Amino acid sequence: MAHCGIASRRKAEEYIRNGMVKVNGEVVTKMGAIVSEADKVEFNGKPVSIEKNKVYIMLNKPREYVTTMHDPQGRKTVMDLIRNLNERVYPVGRLDYDTSGLLLLTNDGELAYRMTHPSYEIIKVYIAVVRGYPSQETIRRLESGIEIDSYVTAPAHVNVIKQYENKTKLEITIHEGRNRQVRRMCEAAGHPVIMLKRIKLGCLALNGLKSGQWRFLTKHEIKKLKGMM
Ligand code: URA
Repeated sequence: MAHCGIASRRKAEEYIRNGMVKVNGEVVTKMGAIVSEADKVEFNGKPVSIEKNKVYIMLNKPREYVTTMHDPQGRKTVMDLIRNLNERVYPVGRLDYDTSGLLLLTNDGELAYRMTHPSYEIIKVYIAVVRGYPSQETIRRLESGIEIDSYVTAPAHVNVIKQYENKTKLEITIHEGRNRQVRRMCEAAGHPVIMLKRIKLGCLALNGLKSGQWRFLTKHEIKKLKGMM
């Protein structure tokens, strides 16, 4: 009831004690009874809708963490980094074990669906350090669409940031989210990825968030995210 904005926790307990709350038609006076979304809860004769407290988190994922909830191989998962959070959240999309950077986690299923569905074309910006010095022609191929496993990628944006020690640092913007897409694009172009980090997802940017740290999105960020879709 406190989650649904009906009353403070203390007040809710008082209402329950006074027999004002029914679950599936039965008055409940026991504190801490657990209800699920399938249960019919009534307060003072009126139905209460069980709204989950929506939580939105930005994590700067370090390398060598998986973005699944559990790993059969026993590797560290991003859930290990957000241990002391009360709500259960899930990663939106995925980053490879060796990729670092911006990962969104939430319990808002609708937003997660929209962020990952290809039709919404959410942009993702990566910093990729690749082997060698890609030519202008190679950059153009990466931008206009390159064949990876008999599929041609959608147009992308590629900026060369700097070249050094037989490596090139690129900023790559895509709006698809195929498995290992950036690595496969660069590999197909003849310049394998040495380091990959996501710095932006839609209107969200990693900015100064340190590796392994997380923070709640601001109200403004949530509003902008929802407005994009
Ligand atoms: N592209 C990749 O190759 N890996 C990622 O983790 C994300 C995008």
